Formats: sequence, C-alpha cells, structure tokens
Amino acid sequence: MKLKKPSPFPCLLFLFLFSIAPSVSATLSPTSAPTASPSPFSSTLDPKQLRALQSLHIPTSRDPCSPSSLHNVTHCDSSAPFRHLLSLRLVNCADDVALSFTALKSLYTLQSLQFLNCPISPIRFPSDLATSLRSFTCIRSLRKLTGVWLSRLRNLTDLTVSGVPITASGPYVILGHMKSIRTLTISHANLTGFVPKHLNLNLTHVDFSGNKLRGKIPSSITSLENLQTLNLSLNSLNGEIPTSIGDLISLQNLSLASNSLSGPIPESLSAVPGIIHIDLGSNQLNGTIPRFISEMKRLKYLNLENNQFRGVIPFNESFIKRLEVFKIQGNGNLCYNHSTLSSKLKLGIAPCDKHGLPIPPPPARDDDDYSVADDSGSDYEENHFSHEEDNHQHGPNKVVLGVAIGLSSLVFIIVFSVLLSKCCR
Ligand SMILES: *[C@@H]1O[C@H](CO)[C@@H](O)[C@H](O)[C@H]1NC(C)=O
Ligand SMILES: *[C@@H]1O[C@H](CO)[C@@H](O)[C@H](O)[C@H]1NC(C)=O
Ligand SMILES: *[C@@H]1O[C@H](CO)[C@@H](O)[C@H](O)[C@H]1NC(C)=O
Ligand SMILES: *[C@@H]1O[C@H](CO)[C@@H](O)[C@H](O)[C@H]1NC(C)=O
Ligand SMILES: *[C@@H]1O[C@H](CO)[C@@H](O)[C@H](O)[C@H]1NC(C)=O
Ligand SMILES: *[C@@H]1O[C@H](CO)[C@@H](O)[C@H](O)[C@H]1NC(C)=O
Ligand SMILES: *[C@@H]1O[C@H](CO)[C@@H](O)[C@H](O)[C@H]1NC(C)=O
Ligand SMILES: *[C@@H]1O[C@H](CO)[C@@H](O)[C@H](O)[C@H]1NC(C)=O
Ligand SMILES: *[C@@H]1O[C@H](CO)[C@@H](O)[C@H](O)[C@H]1NC(C)=O
Repeated sequence: MKLKKPSPFPCLLFLFLFSIAPSVSATLSPTSAPTASPSPFSSTLDPKQLRALQSLHIPTSRDPCSPSSLHNVTHCDSSAPFRHLLSLRLVNCADDVALSFTALKSLYTLQSLQFLNCPISPIRFPSDLATSLRSFTCIRSLRKLTGVWLSRLRNLTDLTVSGVPITASGPYVILGHMKSIRTLTISHANLTGFVPKHLNLNLTHVDFSGNKLRGKIPSSITSLENLQTLNLSLNSLNGEIPTSIGDLISLQNLSLASNSLSGPIPESLSAVPGIIHIDLGSNQLNGTIPRFISEMKRLKYLNLENNQFRGVIPFNESFIKRLEVFKIQGNGNLCYNHSTLSSKLKLGIAPCDKHGLPIPPPPARDDDDYSVADDSGSDYEENHFSHEEDNHQHGPNKVVLGVAIGLSSLVFIIVFSVLLSKCCR
C-alpha cells in the first residue's frame, strides 16, 4: 500500500495527527497491495468483514483480530465462530481507496470509526452502520460532508470532525437527533449558522472553533453543567459573554478568542472552581480586569490580549509568575502599577501614573502603540524612567546607544583634556 504524503494543513491538526498517528501509520506502511491473494491464514474475523477490510486496503495478511497484528487500527469482539469488528481506523489512505456500500454494509458492528487524513469520497452509510456507531472521527478526510449526512449518526456519543468543510445551515442540523452526544468537536469546518440554543445537557466537551458561526452566544449554553471544555474561538460571534457563564461549574478550559465579543468579563466567572485555561484574546471586551481572576487557584493560562480593557491590572507578581501563559498586550488603556510589578515581566503594556492611567508616551509617532511611541523619545533624562519600566525590545537599544555615546564622549573628553594638558605644559 502506498502512503499518501500529508499535504500542508493547519499546524494544530498536524500536531494532533502526529500525536496519535505514528504507530498506526507505521503499522500500515509495510502492507501488502490490496490485490494480494486471499490470506493464507484462517482468520477469526467474519469473512465478509475481512473482504471489506481488503477493499479498504487494510492489510489482512495476518489476522486483523489478533492483538499483535494491527494494534489500534482494528478491534474485534469475541463472538464465535467468527469475531466482528468494533472499531476501525483509517490513516493516510492511498489515493485509490474507495468506500463501497457493500463493504460498509458488512461493517454494521462497528462502534468506532476514524478517518485521519483520508481524502476519499464519502458515501451514504447503510443505516445499520450509521446507528451502530458510537464514536466517529473525521480529520482532514472524506473531502466534504453535509449536516444531513452527519445527522444520521444518531447514536453517537463522541463526534470529531476537523479540517473538513461541512455544508449545513447550522450545527443544529447535525445535532438534532443525537440524543446521547457527550463530546463534540466540529472545528475548522467552515460551518455557518448560530451556536444552538439547545444542546445535550450531558455534553462535557464542545469545540466549534474555526468556523463561521455568527450571532450571540446563547445564554442557554450555561445550563451545560457537565461542560469541561468550551471552545468557540475563531468564529464571528458578537454580543456579550452571557452573564450566567459562571453556571458552567465543571468548566476547565474556556476559549472565546478571536470573535467580536464586547462588554465586560462577567462577575459570575468567579464561581467556577476548577478553571485552568481562559482565552478571551482578540475580541472587543472592555471594562476593568476583575481581581477575582487572581484567586483562581488552578488557573495556568490567561490570554486577554487585543481587547479594550482599561485601568490597572489587578495582579501581583506571584500570581503572574504562577501562570504558564499570560498575555495582556494590545489593550491601549490598560497599565500596570510599577510599584507592585516589575518591568522585567515584559507585559507589553505601559506603566500607570498615580491616577491609574497609562503613562502617556513621549511625543509619539503612533498613539496606539505604546512601545513604538516609547522609543521615539529625544530627551534621554526625561525618558530614562519610562525606559526602565519598559518591556519593549527596541527601547533598551536606544538606552544602550545613548549610554554608549555618553560614555565614549566622556572618555574622549578625558583623553582629550589629558592630552591637551600634556601638550600645553
Ligand atoms: C493502542 O491501544 C492501547 C489499548 O487500547 C492503548 O493503551 C494505546 O495507547 C493505544 N495506542 C495508540 C497509539 O493509540
Ligand atoms: C440507536 O438509536 C435508536 C434511537 O435513535 C435506537 O432505537 C436504536 O436501538 C439504537 N441503535 C443501537 C444499535 O443502539
Ligand atoms: C474554509 O474557507 C476558507 C476560505 O473560503 C478556505 O481557505 C478553507 O480552506 C476552508 N476550509 C475548509 C476546511 O474547507
Ligand atoms: C444524561 O445521562 C444520564 C445518565 O448517563 C441519562 O440518564 C440522561 O437521560 C442523559 N440526559 C440527556 C439529556 O441525554
Ligand atoms: C480552541 O481551538 C483552537 C483552534 O482550534 C485551539 O488552537 C485552542 O487550543 C483551543 N483552546 C482550548 C482551550 O481548547
Ligand atoms: C486545558 O488546558 C490545559 C492548559 O492549557 C491543557 O494542558 C489541557 O490539555 C486542556 N484540557 C482539555 C480537556 O482541553
Ligand atoms: C463597553 O462596550 C459596550 C458595548 O460595546 C458599551 O456599551 C459600554 O459602555 C462599554 N463599557 C465601558 C466600561 O467602556
Ligand atoms: C498576590 O495575590 C494573591 C491573590 O490575590 C494573594 O493571595 C497573594 O497573597 C498575593 N501575594 C503577594 C506577595 O502579595
Ligand atoms: C500602586 O501600588 C501602590 C502600593 O501598593 C499603591 O500605594 C498605589 O496606590 C498603586 N497605584 C495605583 C495607580 O493603583
């Protein structure tokens, strides 16, 4: 079987793929051609399913049900006289793999089906297979899907579709009949429409990142009290973050980044006990940054950059150092208290004056960008203070240059005067 080289695709998917795929692709690579003569061994697998695997170019020269042969590509049940497939994973398919209805019909026992980097054409799944599936994963595979096609997988508990365009008038078309869904990822799929008002209350994971969803985040989403991950980043959502967001008491990872959300960070968020990851970057959120964030004991990741927050950051150094990621720059009216935070933290924002306003940069080329404005200073003495508080990369170069010029002038003057005094003696 010929391995198809993965073409360039978003890093994320790339990483994901590589984090789970290597052993499988390694298993698949040295396989026999699909045209290989009937296997010499007596397989324990149902002969119809064995033929289906062969039609999908899955190697069958050894028993696909034996744990040593295909590792995680297939899993079988233990029925007799023939075993049946419970799960199947297709990775890096060759160009000439095609799904056939007959093959899929014989795979009606599958509970888990994964396609990773298999850009083969989708076909309608026989209804036995469609309803027996519990878990379906399609990453950069099957070329193009429709909401209706996916909605037939109605007994799914886990659905992951990523890097495949999905035509549907909204996620509700896909999810309407999925009564048992628990984890849901539909990302980088160019999905249009709105975030559904009614989602299954047992959902623990919702990732709609990288689509074209628009409108407001429905406040009904906050009734998902089992939700641990909510990722709505990289869409076109607007309006405010629901004030009841704190009802998501199981929430650990929250990303609403790269939308057009406005308004404040809701106070209720302080009620979520186990939050680890907050990403609200690149929106139009405003107001002050709430102090309660510094009391979130498990917080490791905080991104508030590129918003319109104002006022003094309410965090001390020990809090900021505890975080693995802290991003705050790109908030023009935000500043830090230089008597509580060191400029060495390189926060990328201006220090505050005594009124809690960002120290206005000296005569500026660009009002919005503190850092750029800051190195345009002509008067060294005047700028010395703000340079010391500065985290900006170019700023210190000017200082160094200034000091260097100053020192060399001094040395020059001393040498010159010594020479002069010797000369004129
Ligand atoms: C393969 O399956 C075993 C047992 O189900 C699991 O422990 C292992 O992590 C899996 N490996 C990969 C690469 O998925
Ligand atoms: C799938 O769900 C339907 C209801 O939508 C149910 O009648 C059926 O028994 C389920 N199928 C399996 C294989 O569990
Ligand atoms: C989504 O649309 C953009 C622009 O129209 C396109 O570049 C991108 O490839 C599409 N994504 C998918 C997964 O088809
Ligand atoms: C959630 O799960 C529980 C038990 O797993 C089940 O009884 C309940 O019907 C489910 N609720 C929904 C809305 O699916
Ligand atoms: C949200 O999704 C984006 C894009 O798919 C990803 O980069 C990011 O890590 C996710 N964040 C969380 C908290 O899951
Ligand atoms: C949540 O975010 C943390 C920190 O960024 C990350 O290590 C973890 O894998 C994420 N968990 C989930 C379920 O996405
Ligand atoms: C924040 O933005 C909203 C809408 O964009 C506006 O109505 C509100 O006055 C702003 N609040 C502050 C404190 O600037
Ligand atoms: C920093 O802030 C946290 C939370 O507000 C507080 O618990 C801690 O005592 C503060 N540390 C110092 C050194 O002030
Ligand atoms: C900065 O911190 C000092 C010491 O905690 C405090 O006295 C001062 O009022 C703070 N300045 C601002 C602008 O918040």
